[in-house]
Amino acid sequence: MAQLWGGRFTGSINELAWSFNASITFDRRFLEVDVRGSKAHATMLAKQGVISKEEKDQICNGLDSILQDVHAGKLQITDKYEDIHSFLEANLIERIGDAGKKVHTGRSRNDQVALDMRLYARDEILRAKGLLLEMLKTLNAIMKDNTDTYMPGFTHLQKAQPVTLSHHAGAYFEMFKRDYGRMKDIYERMNYCPLGAGALAGTTYPLDREYTAQLLDFYGPTMNSMDSVSDRDYLIEFMSALSTVMMHLSRFSEEIIIWNSNEYRFVEIDDAYSTGSSIMPQKKNPDIAELVRGKTGRVYGDLMSLLTTMKGIPLAYNKDMQEDKEAFFDAADNTLNCLTLFTDMLRTLKFNKENMAKSAMMGFTNATDAADYLVNKGMPFRDAHSVIGRLVLYCIDRKCAIDDLELSQLKEFSELFEEDIFDAISLETCVNKRLTIGAPSPTMMKKVIELNEEFIAQQA
Ligand code: ARG
Repeated sequence: MAQLWGGRFTGSINELAWSFNASITFDRRFLEVDVRGSKAHATMLAKQGVISKEEKDQICNGLDSILQDVHAGKLQITDKYEDIHSFLEANLIERIGDAGKKVHTGRSRNDQVALDMRLYARDEILRAKGLLLEMLKTLNAIMKDNTDTYMPGFTHLQKAQPVTLSHHAGAYFEMFKRDYGRMKDIYERMNYCPLGAGALAGTTYPLDREYTAQLLDFYGPTMNSMDSVSDRDYLIEFMSALSTVMMHLSRFSEEIIIWNSNEYRFVEIDDAYSTGSSIMPQKKNPDIAELVRGKTGRVYGDLMSLLTTMKGIPLAYNKDMQEDKEAFFDAADNTLNCLTLFTDMLRTLKFNKENMAKSAMMGFTNATDAADYLVNKGMPFRDAHSVIGRLVLYCIDRKCAIDDLELSQLKEFSELFEEDIFDAISLETCVNKRLTIGAPSPTMMKKVIELNEEFIAQQA
């Protein structure tokens, strides 16, 4: 055990209490950001004359050499240390002696860990943005290729009206675009530097917090030292946005699982993203999509866990907050993995266009258009609805589509039917005539795709 706080103690800590209290097993991933933060802190201390320039150089070089040795496998991060901060400080002192003992001047582990978490989370937000942008590009490519790939649109998982694959993918484009926007908003709010808040009440050293913030690429310092060490709102916001990403991925997964089923056969998942069965040789299972759907629950759980941890904590820092890490890492790791895998799977997904169109043709997806046809010939909509309802029943009995009937048969339902009904209710017409903003016609979709392209280009 190598702790930072021996002086006040006469007895030694219970062994189980030590490991219960320690965070080194999971905060070791702060190695890089902790070094970055300490170097900025030391640089600022030297500028302010709190430590000498030589001491600052020794500290920075010492930290760099520790980092190098850990990366090279020459130095192990072991659970002899309570946390990553203790590990680094102890090793620094071992390497450079007295100058190492000055790195923690005007700093507490409370603002140190608050900084580490922010630096780490900030990188994860940028990664999430990058992956979401990849998703948007992939979706827009599918949209571009499929403006006339007809498929049924569903409500209640019942065939409703014909749409196109372009339109269906476009719905997900909108969802992930909002997710992308959320990441941007969160970044704007969270990008302020808590370093210099000390344990909770700032410090009497003449710290230049603006300067440290600048060195670490923050917009500026945070404004209240108590809030700085106890704010985890940005993690909660980010995890909430990640949960929404997972919710979208899970809905999409569910659709791909259905589309991949023997009954639908709308898609074929590439071998790289499917698995087989140990007993049934014919099986090719959509495990990746199922696991993405499955992992959604744990990401929601991570969010709930942190929200609940934070709800009863009095100001300022309390050790409960150490619980933010595992929940956050789990949510970020899983969501970013799911995003990466899902986008790759989508990119290699084969769409069975013939089956999609066939499915759109069956199931009376043109019934609304048949009713609209009668309305255009002068029949009130409610009457037309009823006529087509009876017509559908008639077709169900004969196991055929409306399009399969003869004009003479149609005329038994309404004298208003003429030869032009067949064109009016064809799949092409049903889709192509839906020209309103947001509707599936290729004319409208092409405009949307152009707007999407502009949006993507602006993000570069
Ligand atoms: N491991 C701690 C955490 O994650 C670091 C801060 C410790 N501060 C303290 N006062 N014990 O929150």
